[in-house]
Amino acid sequence: MKFAFYDTKQYDIPSFEKYGTEAGITFKFYEGKLNADTAELARGCDGVCIFVNDTCNAEVIDKLHSMGVRMIALRCAGYNNVDVRHAFGKIHVFHVPAYSPYAVAEHAVAMLLTSIRRIHKAYIRTRDFNFSLNGMTGFDLHGKTVGVVGTGKIGRVFIDICRGFGMKVIAYDKFPATDAGIEYVELDELFSRSDIISLHCPLTSETHHMINAVSIEKMRRGVVIVNTSRGALIDAEALLAGIKSRKIGAACLDVYEEEADIFFEDNSGHILDDDTLARLISMPNVIVTSHQAFLTEEALANIAETTVSNIVEFARDGSSRNELCYHCGKVENCKKCRDARCF
Ligand code: NAI
Repeated sequence: MKFAFYDTKQYDIPSFEKYGTEAGITFKFYEGKLNADTAELARGCDGVCIFVNDTCNAEVIDKLHSMGVRMIALRCAGYNNVDVRHAFGKIHVFHVPAYSPYAVAEHAVAMLLTSIRRIHKAYIRTRDFNFSLNGMTGFDLHGKTVGVVGTGKIGRVFIDICRGFGMKVIAYDKFPATDAGIEYVELDELFSRSDIISLHCPLTSETHHMINAVSIEKMRRGVVIVNTSRGALIDAEALLAGIKSRKIGAACLDVYEEEADIFFEDNSGHILDDDTLARLISMPNVIVTSHQAFLTEEALANIAETTVSNIVEFARDGSSRNELCYHCGKVENCKKCRDARCF
């Protein structure tokens, strides 16, 4: 089988070549992202392999379908960039639901600690032989309340780590877990009680801009917001206003609403067009990483292995347990997807 692999980064190639070769799959690596113009590169391929910032809207799906492409293999968990509803009946879509929840949860904690203990400032100061501690006062995590939005795989690992620090954990989830001993509260209560808020839910029409001017108003003064989930969970303009008004004490962002044309690339020689992002980055209490939370050796190996096994399973059985299907409106974890072809 042949797959057009879009938005290739150097770190993708070794693991996909290894697992692909073992399974008889050839990946054709392209640096460009999938969109209506680049879809043509997939001509003659059985499928496309895409990442978070590729565009797979109705137009692209129709183009791929007309060229005989049968599979869209997402090498990530989130699938908000694929029109799954439109793909139904045309192209099968798979994702990698979990590759290392530890990678993302640990990155969230790394950002949080960096921010509140001013490690990013200390690193720059001491390199310049500036050993002053003025302005470096942080605060203990121990005893603080963290509000976790989304208690799935990543959220739960994050909660375990926070408990290790002696933090009080409260959480909100649309589908609360019954087995985890987590104190669930309504979203508004989470906003008003949390010293730190960490987002671990998917981006959907319901969660879009869940952090906005109104919700920020309900938060405690000095709240720290951590987002390793999806950028559009936060209204970036409202976040910036909250930081300027000192309502928000710090923000740790691994994702950004308008990241698609900026993140993952070296833009150091260019003038950044996005004024909101530039202003956020200029703030001493904002840390931005470039959608890096997933990037560990373990996660890369798991991503390649699961993507390849999704493809192999579909080729063999006509279905894959990690298929995203719109057959009954239940996009994920559809029994029918696991047991039989949906279309
Ligand atoms: P998961 O599916 O295991 O957990 C998501 C949780 O969110 C579930 O418990 C679900 O019930 C809950 N949820 C769904 N709708 C909700 C709503 N409206 N309000 C509150 N909670 C809701 O997913 P997992 O693996 O924990 O990943 C979470 C998110 O992390 C993904 O959606 C993805 O966007 C992001 N992610 C980011 C990465 C990065 O590199 N920055 C890498 C991997 C995932």
